[in-house]
Amino acid sequence: MTKTAIEAATLSFAKDPFLNDVEDCYHFEEDAVIVMEDGTITQIGKPSDILPTLGDTKVTKYDDSIIVPGFIDTHVHYPQTEIIGAYGEQLIDWLNNYAFVAEQNFSDSDHAQEVARVFINEQLRNGVTSSAVYCTVYPRSVDALFAEAQKHGMRLMAGKVCMDRNAPEPLLDTPQRAYDESKELIEKWHGNGRLEYVVTPRFAPTSSPEQFEMLKTLVNEYPDVLIQSHVSENLNEVEWVKELFPGAKDYTDVYDKYDLVRKRAIYGHGVHLTERELGVFHDTGAAVAHCPTSNFFLGSGCLNVTNLKNPARPVKVGIGTDLGAGTSFSILQTLNEAYKAAQMNSLPYTSLHSFYLATLGGAEALGLEDKIGSIQVGKEADLTVINMKSTPIIDYRMRYADSLEEALFVQMILGDDRAIAATYVAGSKVYAAQNH
Ligand code: GUN
Ligand code: ZN
Repeated sequence: MTKTAIEAATLSFAKDPFLNDVEDCYHFEEDAVIVMEDGTITQIGKPSDILPTLGDTKVTKYDDSIIVPGFIDTHVHYPQTEIIGAYGEQLIDWLNNYAFVAEQNFSDSDHAQEVARVFINEQLRNGVTSSAVYCTVYPRSVDALFAEAQKHGMRLMAGKVCMDRNAPEPLLDTPQRAYDESKELIEKWHGNGRLEYVVTPRFAPTSSPEQFEMLKTLVNEYPDVLIQSHVSENLNEVEWVKELFPGAKDYTDVYDKYDLVRKRAIYGHGVHLTERELGVFHDTGAAVAHCPTSNFFLGSGCLNVTNLKNPARPVKVGIGTDLGAGTSFSILQTLNEAYKAAQMNSLPYTSLHSFYLATLGGAEALGLEDKIGSIQVGKEADLTVINMKSTPIIDYRMRYADSLEEALFVQMILGDDRAIAATYVAGSKVYAAQNH
């Protein structure tokens, strides 16, 4: 039995603040001890109650810090780590000129392993403990990422990208290969420790109707695997999908016809979804990954998250970095951009809404709220410790922050990887900043 404990302020959500009175949605403790045993949280409480029960268990105390559930990145492409910040294009040109070039390097297992190492290391430095990850068309790129995540005990979801048209020839599979290779990877990795498989058609333009038919068969054979793809990111893309699938009611309908819109299906972007499509997301329990740094970087648009959360038909939403069109591994920086996207649309959208999206919101979007996303006895012990004074200017600014909401807002506007004091995965410290 490995037993450890950490002490600091804590923040955790129990409900969606977009749909309930914000004050009823979260629990904040100014000073609490969290005890972790064999990967799960076994006790939480005031130091005066918990410390006397701990015997010689080591307690790590973090000053000027707040412990939150490990951040969840609900949409990210690990093979694009090497092209973050590639200049100058909108979606389709960016894919052709950068993403599709970088992804061809992943036929080489050594390269895939190296990038997987860099990628996972960077996630842990940024307090990301779980994510839904796109690999490449090559199954070995999936093996490389899962193997790296497993070394750290992470709850990670990933899948082989399926595409059989409108991409360079070396990146294309076929309908049959998409089925066979995805199935083999499901058998190997789905439910292997904390890993889960995600059936991953890249997006509607790169899969033929025949490939979608095969993926429909696959997801019906495995009703508990996750599904991920992109939807309504860019207006030219939306027009292209209309031309490619003239019989579909809209973009979402392309996926829906092949049973790909359901619980535990998560679609990146959704910037231009119509009211009808949002109704389908609501009715089926599918989720949207909000990827604001990418939406700004590629000029795709501003997602109106408040509209997605319309109480008449709320949609599940998580936060996605969407690297490498996204520009930061930092969830704090991604929340910064999500705030600006909200400003361009509608308010209210506070720091508490933001931290919900990055934790419990992400867990709900991925159907994992019974396991991760909140600090609760019985939940898996994935925790991120935020140093509230990580830079001189944040330290100075925090003197003038006189509420929890304001303190969190300062962190998400000014904070980045330097704000992460430590990251715990399944109760083990997997990252600590130099001064911690
Ligand atoms: N749509 C299809 N593929 C991609 C991708 O790799 N990145 C982004 N941002 N959008 C996509
Ligand atoms: Zn993406």
